[in-house]
This record gives sequence, structure tokens and C-alpha cells, in this order.
Amino acid sequence: MSDLKNKNIILGVCGGIAAYKSAELVRLLIKQGAQVQVVMTHSAGEFVTPLTFQALSGRVARDTLFDLDAEAGMGHIELVRWADLILIAPATANTIAKITHGIADNLLSTICMASKAPLLIAPAMNQQMWINAAMQDNIKMLLRRQTVTLCGPAAGEQACGDTGPGRMEEPAQLLKRCITLLKSNQQLSGNQSPGKRLKGKKILITAGPTIEDIDPVRYMSNRSSGKMGYAIVQAAIDEGAEVVLVSGPTVLTAPAQAEFFMVRSALEMHDKVFELIDSADIFIATAAVADYRPVKKVEQKIKKNNTTLILELIKNPDILADVAALANKPLCIGFAAETNDVKNYALDKLKRKNLDMIVANKVGESQSGGNTGFEGDNNELNLYWNNPADRTELRTKNLPYASKYQLAGQLIDEIVLLFT
Ligand code: C5P
Repeated sequence: MSDLKNKNIILGVCGGIAAYKSAELVRLLIKQGAQVQVVMTHSAGEFVTPLTFQALSGRVARDTLFDLDAEAGMGHIELVRWADLILIAPATANTIAKITHGIADNLLSTICMASKAPLLIAPAMNQQMWINAAMQDNIKMLLRRQTVTLCGPAAGEQACGDTGPGRMEEPAQLLKRCITLLKSNQQLSGNQSPGKRLKGKKILITAGPTIEDIDPVRYMSNRSSGKMGYAIVQAAIDEGAEVVLVSGPTVLTAPAQAEFFMVRSALEMHDKVFELIDSADIFIATAAVADYRPVKKVEQKIKKNNTTLILELIKNPDILADVAALANKPLCIGFAAETNDVKNYALDKLKRKNLDMIVANKVGESQSGGNTGFEGDNNELNLYWNNPADRTELRTKNLPYASKYQLAGQLIDEIVLLFT
């Protein structure tokens, strides 16, 4: 395999215990055909020696901005122009803060400021540092930049003995993210990527809220913005899928490459989905479908003659459960947005609706303290699925707080890995 053939990657290594894993990362990148230039911060040298990286990458690891010899070879601006991608793994809180605020006081942070290349950041730090408000504010600010992508951190046991989010994502996972990122970047710049992993697959996606009319001027709905669903549409397109979007009313613009149907009510969404489902390989239901609708729509505006008004509601059909009950059902992925007891409700839906995967998120606040849910640009997701080989074995994965677009890419990665 040579997914990174002719790609030039700057690997930034900061001073954290996870730096020992960066050596393995260099090996994996090189194996995929990339040229790797390691740029270390001063404190990274306390954990791994430059010689290790030199031996693995075949290039002298750079660590100083004002190194006359190195600058005479390839100056730092030349290095910036050379790079197709900058990956920082591990990225410490200190380096993340510098990059966020434009402090260019060492070679790595200077390169980041001077570069237009995609920047993939793999944070690694103590879990308290990761959830610290300053850190989370910085991450949110950084993720607003088009070129920046976050990978991890994973949650689990930490070198310091704590347990929680802050572990560097594994090198194999980082390698996959580099490949996808470079592929989608190549596509954005007009070169068709050769290895589109969902090419030939048709994906039907529901998104947004539904609107249930009460009378000609009033309706019931919910706070879904559609942002998560539309981001998944884009991520699936980026992987070469043929995407059909059935959306409730939102202010968003559907990606031009998607076939787009706007509907209003749950019943309309149900009908449209069933008109289209036969040809779908994958069904992703992100829509926040209203559970109930008024038994009858009143034709004229209801007058406020009484102090109380009783509205009789009837249950809407469950679009996702109905699709998952089809004899030739596509792969079915549902969403569970909950305010409490997220995991239990999600697992209940996985089983009750006969789904292949459920994507859960807490409406309100993520594990790391960021705002999540309906209207924001960021989210945190927990995926649950049954091992396809042994349906009794439950698998789970946390996709930490990030922009909805980034999470959509990571979700599509998981779908590709698991089910194609
Ligand atoms: O049962 P609940 O509404 O919490 O389930 C959420 C999941 O089911 C989401 O994937 C949502 O899009 C889907 N759903 C649906 N039709 C409904 C209700 C929910 O497709 N009527």
C-alpha cells in the first residue's frame, strides 16, 4: 500500500510521554510512501532523542528556529512550502495554546503560523488539563479554522495514573486520518482522489426537524438545526458516496452533489424515505422526527376563547424502525440525542429498532464540558454497535468534542471500516 506516496508530512512532536509513540507513527507514515520531516519542540527532546527520529525518517530532526546549518539546507519557510500536511502528535496544551493565539516562538509554532497546509492535531495530556476551561476555549477557537482538524484525544488510563480523556490517539488511527485528510484536501483542490471508500454506495440520510401543523399559523417542532446531518452528507460525498438527503425545514444549504428533498412533517418524511429506500445501501437517520402530531389539522386559526386548550396528538410512524424492519434492509444507523442516561437509552434504541449502529450524544454538555446538541457547531458522539461477526458482543467508541464536520468525517471513517 502506498496511500501517502509523494506526500510530504511535517510531524511535530511536543514534550509529552506519548512522544515515544511518534517513533512508530514515523515508521507507519514512511511505510505508506510519505516523506516525513520531524520538527520537535525543545521539551520533546526530554522524552525521545532526535537520533531516533533521524534513523526512522532518514532526515535530521529539526528543533531550532535559528539553526544556521539547518536553515542553509532547507529554511523554515521552504519547509512550510514543502509540506502537504502538518501533523502534531503528541500536541501538548502549551503548543495548542501557542498555535491558537499565534505565538511563534519556536520552530514548530512558527511553521504552523506560516503554513496553509491542513493541520492535524493529536492532543495528549493529563485529563484535568484537557477538560480545563482554558484548554477547551482554545480548542473551540482553533477548530473554527478551516484547515485545522482534531484527532482524539482518546479516553482511558493515563501514564500519570488518572483515567479520562487525554490519551494520544493510536498511531494506526492517526495514519488513517492523515490519509483521509489528504484525500479530501486533494479533492477540494480539484484532483480526483483515487481511493474513494464509499464509491458505488448509495446513502440515504434524513436530517433536520419535522414540523407538525396545528392550524394555518401554528405548528409544533423542535430545536434541531440539521447541522450534524448536513455535515454527514458532506463527509459521505467526500468519500465518493451517492447521497440522497431528505430534510425537514432548515436554514442550511444542501451540498450541490447531493440529491435533495425538502419535506415538512414526519408523515411526509416517512413517505419520501420509503419512495427512495429500495436502492439505498446505508440509511443514516439524523432527523429529529416529531414523536407526535395533532390528530387533525384545524383549517382555520384557533381562537383563544377558552382558558385551556386541549390538543389531541397521535404518534408518528418511526421511520428508522420501519426501515430497519424491511426484509432487505440497508445498513441502519440511528441517532440518540438525550438529556440524561444517554448510554442506556441509546442501547435500548439499538436493540428495539434493530439497528446496526447508534450514535448517541448528550444534549447540553459533553464529557469534556463543551456545549453539545442541537443548535451548536460542535458535538461529542458515542458510538455503539454489535460486532457484526458476533452480534452479542457490544462495541463502543467515543468521538471527543469537535466540530460537527470533523465528527461527521470520523463517523464515516467508522462506517467504512466496519461495514464496507
Ligand atoms: O426514538 P427516538 O426518536 O429517540 O429515536 C431517534 C432515532 O430514530 C433517530 O435516528 C431518528 O432520526 C429516528 N426516528 C425516526 N422516526 C421517528 C422517530 C425517530 O426515524 N418517528
